[in-house]
Amino acid sequence: MKLSFALVILTLPLIRAQVPHWGPCPEPAVQPAFNLKQFMGRWFEIARLPTQFEKGQCIETNFTLKTDSSMRVVSSEILNGELRKIEGIGVIEDMKNPAKLGISYSYVLPYSPYWILSTDYVNSALVYSCTDVLRLFHVDFAWILGRTRTLPESTVERAKEIFANNNIDVIRMIASRQQGCDKTL
Ligand SMILES: *[C@@H]1O[C@H](CO)[C@@H](O)[C@H](O)[C@H]1NC(C)=O
Repeated sequence: MKLSFALVILTLPLIRAQVPHWGPCPEPAVQPAFNLKQFMGRWFEIARLPTQFEKGQCIETNFTLKTDSSMRVVSSEILNGELRKIEGIGVIEDMKNPAKLGISYSYVLPYSPYWILSTDYVNSALVYSCTDVLRLFHVDFAWILGRTRTLPESTVERAKEIFANNNIDVIRMIASRQQGCDKTL
């Protein structure tokens, strides 16, 4: 009882940022035969479930292969006119499930799930991250990524359908701001 109380207190900031959903995490299908190497390079954030952590604009991530199963992850955003970057490490945790990546932005933090639900490697990618809290409820994050700063509306709508078909609630998904990014820097 004490432990669960402590856990609820610890996860409160997370819960405030996101609407928690009852029950354990959904188990969405992920990209079959995921190819980490083809996924490398620059991806722009097209849309996301709102999070407390990313408030800037022009959000993008550059993935670089380190080994066959790990990568360097550099995410950046522009906040109040300033470019901010954070660096992390991504890994394939189970070679039998290569699309289920984990990313950590600090060696003191555990890997957070970073699942590639679907990608064609050259246009768009759907990413999902979900954490169970005592299997009572879960907090999740979802992103639509693009190789370009904007994607056709039809691609975005299809992506949302894929999330929804996997029991992921993307009604609150918002478009990321990618305007005026190239001239600011
Ligand atoms: C991505 O990272 C690689 C390796 O650090 C670097 O060579 C490349 O210029 C970066 N690309 C962008 C767009 O930042």
